[in-house]
Amino acid sequence: MINDKVRKLVVGCALLLAAGPSLAADPDTQKQLDGIKAAIPKFAIPMREVGDRFQNIYFAAHGGNWALAAYMSKYMNGAMNPAMLTKPAEYAVWKNFNDNTFASVNKAIMAKDVKAFDTAYKAVVDDCNSCHKGMGYGFIKVVKLGGPADSGIDYKVKSEPGDVPK
Ligand code: HEC
Repeated sequence: MINDKVRKLVVGCALLLAAGPSLAADPDTQKQLDGIKAAIPKFAIPMREVGDRFQNIYFAAHGGNWALAAYMSKYMNGAMNPAMLTKPAEYAVWKNFNDNTFASVNKAIMAKDVKAFDTAYKAVVDDCNSCHKGMGYGFIKVVKLGGPADSGIDYKVKSEPGDVPK
C-alpha cells in the first residue's frame, strides 16, 4: 500500500518536474517541489524492501513457486524506482546491477533451474555487498537467511515463472 503511494508520488513529481521552466521558475512552486522531492525515499527505504524480497526469492525458487520468485524479483527492482528521482547517479548503478548482474538469477528462474539458480544467487550476494562497499556502506553485509523475510506467504505453491500478471 505504502509503496503504491510512493510510486504514485514519484510519477506525479516526475510529471510536475517535466512540466517545464515556467513552473520551476516560480520560487513557491520550486520550494514545494523540493519539499516533495525531499520526502521521497532515497536508497535506504527501498533497499529495505530489496533485502526482504531478495531473501524471499530464494525460498520461492526452492519451493517450486516460480511465479512468486519472478514476482519478488520484479518488485525488488520496482522498489528502487523512487531513487530514479532522488538519487539518479546511484540509481544508474542499481539499474546496471539489475539489468546485467542480476540477469543470471532471473534467467535461472525463467528456466526453473534450481542448480543454476543456486550458483547465480550465491554469486549475486557478493555483488550486492560490493556495491555496498563501493558506496561507503561496507558495514551493510547481506547474508542469506535460514527462512524467508516474510513468513506469511506459502512458498510451496506450485507455479510457473510466466504466471505473473503483466
Ligand atoms: C547500486 C548499489 C547497490 C546495490 C547493487 C545493492 N545495494 Fe543495498 N544498499 C545500497 C546503499 C547505498 C545502501 C545504504 C542506503 C542509504 O543509506 O542510503 C544499501 C542498503 C541496503 C540494506 C539496508 C537497508 C536498511 O536500511 O535496512 C539492505 C538490506 C540491502 N542494501 C540489501 C541489498 C541486497 C540484497 C542487494 C542485492 C540484491 C543490494 N542491497 C544491492 C546500495 C546498493
